[in-house]
Amino acid sequence: MSVHYARVWGGKALGGSVAISGSKNTCLPIIAATLLTEETCILRNVPQLTDIFCMIEVVRRLGVAVERLDAHTWSFEAKAVAAYADRTFVERFRASVCLLGALLGRNRRASMPVPGGCKLGSRPIDIHLRAFRALGAEATQTSDGIDLHAERLTGATFSVAGPRGSTVTGTLNAILAAVLAEGRSVLVGAAREPEVVSFCAFLQKMGAKIEGAGTDRLAIEGVSALRGADFTIPSDRMEAGTFLILGLLCCDALRIINAPREVLCGIPEILPQIADYCRWEGEDLVVRRGEFPPIEVSAAPYPHFPTDLQPQMTVLASQIAGTSHVRDTIFPDRFTHIDAFRRLGMDIKKTADDTIAVAGKTALCGAEIAATDLRAGAAMYLAGLIARGETTIFQKEYVERGYENFEEKLLALGAAIEYTPLQMQQETSNAGNTPIIFRTDSAHNIFQKTSE
Ligand code: EPU
Repeated sequence: MSVHYARVWGGKALGGSVAISGSKNTCLPIIAATLLTEETCILRNVPQLTDIFCMIEVVRRLGVAVERLDAHTWSFEAKAVAAYADRTFVERFRASVCLLGALLGRNRRASMPVPGGCKLGSRPIDIHLRAFRALGAEATQTSDGIDLHAERLTGATFSVAGPRGSTVTGTLNAILAAVLAEGRSVLVGAAREPEVVSFCAFLQKMGAKIEGAGTDRLAIEGVSALRGADFTIPSDRMEAGTFLILGLLCCDALRIINAPREVLCGIPEILPQIADYCRWEGEDLVVRRGEFPPIEVSAAPYPHFPTDLQPQMTVLASQIAGTSHVRDTIFPDRFTHIDAFRRLGMDIKKTADDTIAVAGKTALCGAEIAATDLRAGAAMYLAGLIARGETTIFQKEYVERGYENFEEKLLALGAAIEYTPLQMQQETSNAGNTPIIFRTDSAHNIFQKTSE
């Protein structure tokens, strides 16, 4: 178990303002898409996250000239791009899978190890490979990795739907390969997530011809070349959703600055009373804690409730009188966190392969627990903040993959937290293509910023 931890003292009412960072799952595939042009791309509002740093390091190792213009602004210039992505960083995060489509589109060949990422149960890439093959590529997958090769890519009509609905990165990969293919492609069963829509907006700025973004049918007219683009990453709906749930749990008034409208996706269906506890003030969402009847959550592809907020919603369910049910139809095995939740005192039973029953309202009590993945880790902070006494969350580096300055943001809301600093930090460099250096901070270097 890692020595990186956060210690949370719960039971306080929180409040104040939190600004939402750029969207991880929008930014990661967009960095991959910068491989599709020789021209410079500028990305703004890039969140400082370990997954993002890993993606930047992978593209730099592929030959891209990467420059950091300020804390959240980066430029990418891909004059020449290697076809092979080495394993060092690729295996650390899931979105590296998008390099397959980007490299195939750019070089007509790609070779890389199987991507890593949070362990949410089975995460096959058969639909990605099916899409590449439909466009004319030969695709092989072995235990060592994936190889793609195409003499030419030719537009085609194909499905990117799977047994659990659309695939987000599968759709992105198909788009990456199709935008520079010859002729017209039609993607049926495409993912409709806002991250896909923003990704298409970036490619359209690069000169790609894409119609139907946000629907399940995308039409792409291949072009011979793409140009550079300047793009601002929209704010992260999963981070906003996590703070929204924090607000409903324990905040007198929490202002979520620049909340994306999609943050409410699926939530009013689960919590019709949410309107009584949250209101829009311009672009900000103001939330306060509430009392709710039992909830029925079923995570499913957009526009339904997101799987990436399922563990956080389970924490809220534990604070509701009566029995709530939480189901995950996308990742049925995404319940590895319930053992940690039970240690905090939650009353949770597995009632089906993909469903848990949560009985409430339970008084939570601090314990030592370990994050099992990114979103579950964030949910453990929320649980710790409403638990009596001290909760220690180990393996907090999971959370740093997807939440920028999470502890600092919570401290600003009045939380009492002590934590080891960011495990992997990037040395800021303005010197063109200087390697990005990760350093591991000493486990003894504790940031202690507890409040009363
Ligand atoms: N699937 C297949 N075959 C495939 C691809 C997917 O059967 O070839 C299945 C998966 O096993 C799953 C379902 O299809 O049951 C949907 O998976 P999807 O491919 O949409 O997931 P993903 O693209 O790997 C992205 C996000 C996840 C988020 C899911 C679902 C990124 C980098 N990751 O993953 O985000 O949970 O979509 O919305 O965009 C996170 O940020 O914490 C995170 C896990």
